[in-house]
Amino acid sequence: MKAALRPLSPWLVPELRLWLLPPEAPWWHATEPEALGMPYWAFAWPGGQVLARFLFDHPEWVRGRRVLDFGCGGALEGVAAAKLGAASVLCADLDAEACALAQRNAELNGVQLEVTTAELLRAPAGAFDVILAGDVCYSVELAAQVLPWLRGSTAEVLVGDPLRVPGALGDAARLATYAASFDGDPRGLTLWPTHVLRLGAAHTARPASSS
Ligand SMILES: C[S@@+](CC[C@H](N)C(=O)[O-])C[C@H]1O[C@@H](n2cnc3c(N)ncnc32)[C@H](O)[C@@H]1O
Repeated sequence: MKAALRPLSPWLVPELRLWLLPPEAPWWHATEPEALGMPYWAFAWPGGQVLARFLFDHPEWVRGRRVLDFGCGGALEGVAAAKLGAASVLCADLDAEACALAQRNAELNGVQLEVTTAELLRAPAGAFDVILAGDVCYSVELAAQVLPWLRGSTAEVLVGDPLRVPGALGDAARLATYAASFDGDPRGLTLWPTHVLRLGAAHTARPASSS
């Protein structure tokens, strides 16, 4: 799979290039059981696309801040935050191959970030100003684990999500909605309304724009 990746811009984020599956890759024509075996890091998921788009449109959310990209996959959101001047970026994914690709994607875009495969859900989130969580509510079970942990954080939490689990994010404030390409298809043949959501009451004031 890794050999098939090519440097491509995610559908909503022409400012960046990531190692992604190109349109000609046979996996885009896979049947559902085959598709279920695909590694998540080979795609720029709709939730990640909208978070990165939102950050490029509103860089004050991450500029000069300590950022965690939780469930980073290929780290589209983390790379965007680093590019936009975050003070530090930690990208977390249980999948070591995702973390390796996150580093390759950082190099491709000339930025630096840290990675970890640690299970962060076992303890309160560390010292971060902003947590980015792109498309990490893709099952009822995962949403039930991740959302209480995110809600318990003292950081500002931005979630990018196409609302795959009905009701899971009903309490979140909607900051923006974009048409993102279905599960990262670089051709944008099918577009999904996908949202940038702010979890819970703000623990910190919305950052003032310095631009
Ligand atoms: C659908 S992918 C989204 C990747 C990326 N954020 C994006 O939007 O393109 C979800 C990712 O969450 C990761 N993940 C699932 N549970 C996790 C956990 N407890 N801690 C860290 N990562 C996790 C998976 O390995 C997968 O790479």
